[in-house]
Amino acid sequence: MRRKIVIGNWKMNGDLQFSRKLLGELASQWTGVHNAEVAVCPSYPFLLPALFELEQTNISVGAQDLSVNEKGAFTGDVSGGMLSDIGCRYVLVGHSERREYHGESSELVAKKVEAALKHHLTPVLCVGETLSDREQGKTYDVVGGQLLKVVERVGLEAMTKGVVAYEPVWAIGTGKTATPEMAQEVHSYIREALGPEGDQIRILYGGSVKPDSASGLFGQKDIDGGLVGGASLAAADFLAICRAAE
Ligand code: PGA
Repeated sequence: MRRKIVIGNWKMNGDLQFSRKLLGELASQWTGVHNAEVAVCPSYPFLLPALFELEQTNISVGAQDLSVNEKGAFTGDVSGGMLSDIGCRYVLVGHSERREYHGESSELVAKKVEAALKHHLTPVLCVGETLSDREQGKTYDVVGGQLLKVVERVGLEAMTKGVVAYEPVWAIGTGKTATPEMAQEVHSYIREALGPEGDQIRILYGGSVKPDSASGLFGQKDIDGGLVGGASLAAADFLAICRAAE
C-alpha cells in the first residue's frame, strides 16, 4: 500500500510576511491528515521559518533544488547536506522550470537525485513532456528518457527511496489540468518503466491541481498524490487538496 503524498511547491513567491502568514494558517488550520504525507517547499530564505512554524504539525519541509556539490567554491548553491542539516526531508529535483530556465540536463538531474539520496533527503524527481512533445506523440519517449537517465545512475533499488512527479509542462500554471484518465495513462507507463520496484514508488501528478480536481486525480490507480504549485499558496485550497488525498 503506497501512502499518498501532497507537496506544495511555492516556487519563487512571497516575502517573509506572506510566508509567515501562510505557514501560520497551515499550522492553525491543520487538523491532521493522518493517511497522507504532506510537505511544503518554500524558497531557501523561508525554509527555517517553515521548519519552525510547522514544528507542531506533521507537515514536512522540502527545498526546491539542491547542488550536486558537497561544499566549497560554488557561489549561490545550496548542498544536500545543508538542507538535511536544518531538517528538510524532501527536495524537488529536475522541475521543468529548472530544466528550461537553467538548462538542467537529465544527466545533471540524475546527479542531483544521487546527491539528495546521499543526504537522506527524499528526491521528488519531476518528469513531463511539453505540449509540442505531446502533439508529436513523443510523451512516452520524453518521460521514459528522463526517467532512464536517473535509473541508470542510481539504480532501481535507490529509486524506491524517492518519489516521481509526473508534471506535463503544458499543464503547469496554465489552469489546464490533465484529465484523470490522461494522467493515469502516463502514470501507469512510468510504473511499468520502473520495473518490479515500480509498485513501491510513489508517483505524484502535478500541473494545475486544484481542490475541485484533486479527488478525481488522486482516485486513479497509479496516482499517489500531487505536486501543487499555485494552489499551495492559499492555505484553505492546499489543505482541501491534502484532505482529498486521505
Ligand atoms: P501549478 O504548478 O500547480 O501552479 O500548475 C505545479 C508545479 O509546477 O509543481
